[in-house]
Amino acid sequence: MNDFINSHLLSLKRNNFSFPEVELRTLLKKSAINKKEIILSNFDINNINKDLFNDAFKRRINKEPISKIFNEKCFWNLDFFVNKKVLDPRPETEFIIEGVEKYFKNKREKLNFIDLGTGSGCLAISLAKEYFSSKFIATDISTEALKVAKNNSKNHKTSNRIKFLNCDWYNGNEIFNVILSNPPYLNLKEYNNLDEGLKNNEPKVALYGGIDGLTYYRELGPILSRISNQDTISFVEIGYKQKDRTIEIFNEYGMKCIDIIVDYQQYERILVLMKKSRNNY
Ligand SMILES: C[S@@+](CC[C@H](N)C(=O)[O-])C[C@H]1O[C@@H](n2cnc3c(N)ncnc32)[C@H](O)[C@@H]1O
Repeated sequence: MNDFINSHLLSLKRNNFSFPEVELRTLLKKSAINKKEIILSNFDINNINKDLFNDAFKRRINKEPISKIFNEKCFWNLDFFVNKKVLDPRPETEFIIEGVEKYFKNKREKLNFIDLGTGSGCLAISLAKEYFSSKFIATDISTEALKVAKNNSKNHKTSNRIKFLNCDWYNGNEIFNVILSNPPYLNLKEYNNLDEGLKNNEPKVALYGGIDGLTYYRELGPILSRISNQDTISFVEIGYKQKDRTIEIFNEYGMKCIDIIVDYQQYERILVLMKKSRNNY
């Protein structure tokens, strides 16, 4: 291997990266001039944009996530623009999409969806591509996040079916067929113990869910109940170990849990909720 590769691998190792070869290969590939696969053993420096690589390498050494350095993160089957104002879409959130597909088999159906706390827009936009006759409302309290979501929606040609609202969850009275939400749910201890790279590069408003991590489930409970009818199905992401307490909270607001979807790590991750009928109270 040449000196360039060796010195960069050494620097990654010294900075405690667990998989330096993978890191270096990714950074080189993202900086490649012709986007060809990079092989470390026969690396040719002329195949990369050196300025782009040097800047990216410096930022990575400071623990900035690769997604934020290159402003791109893949979710479901689409690439999304991301920056420090939005949470990077996570693989576990894709289980919301799988849940929707399980309960709404007919993709031609004209459904109305709401995505509460849309961030990059990953859920609303991915589902708008799947459910091509449906309409969407996507809300966020962060104007900066909504800018990113609108831009992603434009890039994926879904702007004519997604209305973006800058508000505190949702204060309208429309009834929806499908409700989606991945609220912030880390408790104080979890937030404080986050890896510095994440803490410095993901917005706090997207991660921190109050001292016990449950603040936003308490806020969402009455909203879900208000904008549901007996046929509405809600898909809400939860933190691991939050299942019992979140089900209790939603119960208090007349929502019953009809299903729980587990993620890749076998954590109970998505609650599927419906409004209780009156005689169920
Ligand atoms: C965990 S992130 C989820 C983002 C995106 N839906 C996803 O799954 O990647 C939570 C989002 O909720 C937004 N949010 C936090 N509090 C809110 C509130 N009171 N009303 C609306 N959105 C809120 C944050 O700005 C953030 O974009």
